[in-house]
Amino acid sequence: MHKIAIVGAGRVGETAAQIIAEQDLCRELVLIDIREDVPQGVALDIYETAPLFCFDTRVTGSNDGAAVAGAELVIVTAGFPRKPGMSRSDVLDANLAIIDPICDDLLAHAPDAMVLVVSNPVDVLTYRVWRRTGWPRSRVFGQAGVLDASRMAAFIALETGFSARDVTTMVLGGHGDSMVPVPRYCTINGIPVSHFISPERLAGIIQRTRDGGAEILSLRGNSSAYDAPGAAIAAMVEAIARNRSRVLPCVAILDGEYGEREIAMGVPAVLNQQGLARIIELPLEAEEQQAFAGSAKAVRADIGRLPAA
Ligand code: LAC
Repeated sequence: MHKIAIVGAGRVGETAAQIIAEQDLCRELVLIDIREDVPQGVALDIYETAPLFCFDTRVTGSNDGAAVAGAELVIVTAGFPRKPGMSRSDVLDANLAIIDPICDDLLAHAPDAMVLVVSNPVDVLTYRVWRRTGWPRSRVFGQAGVLDASRMAAFIALETGFSARDVTTMVLGGHGDSMVPVPRYCTINGIPVSHFISPERLAGIIQRTRDGGAEILSLRGNSSAYDAPGAAIAAMVEAIARNRSRVLPCVAILDGEYGEREIAMGVPAVLNQQGLARIIELPLEAEEQQAFAGSAKAVRADIGRLPAA
């Protein structure tokens, strides 16, 4: 890729930027943030690692939303993180006021870009960006499932003692308390996890995955998670930049898939240079479908709070 923009130079944006630069996924990477001097400082700090990590990505910072111009991919991490005790929905109103002007910058300065939404509540805000830009869903998608699936895989690796790289997990639904980890689609190198983990222990892992963000928030105290979220963003960017057609759980606009439409939620999708090229519809058992529908209901309740786009 030639240029990627990250709107929001907080910890998640910074962590993603560092990994994207280290992997040389683009020639130019601009971090945009309204806080004076901050994106410039973050960008310079990252660029000063170029000689150490041997990358050629030019990392710059800007306070001007128009700096998205020319970016093929814009990653939106701007927004208020939640504080301990808050749900992701609790930051909706505050972050809506941030996302709408970003959409307007995209429409004005980067009308052909793809947008990867990360700010919370990510399902609702992805839907908002899709509505407000009017762009095809292949160019508007969100990050949640890659993070949630990575958390679940980490817990399974800790439980079994097996290499984390052999663990494959699948998490569907909204990125919230109603997310739907699907153990039936989780394997250790193709072997169903149920071969190694008892149903009771697996239930514990599923709950810990749902609470994954809150667990980090309560442990760190003064910060939401950012290492795993940043790495999850970078994994999606890598799939797009290198045109890999990876199958990853993404927040996607649904148009009848899984029985839902007019909503954005986590489903497995194909990511390549076209963006979100395709949604994969998995056969779900009655209980899984029910959990998915319950998650859709929770996301839809927040979508119902949105003012006209
Ligand atoms: C998390 C928050 C950032 O899952 O959504 O860590």
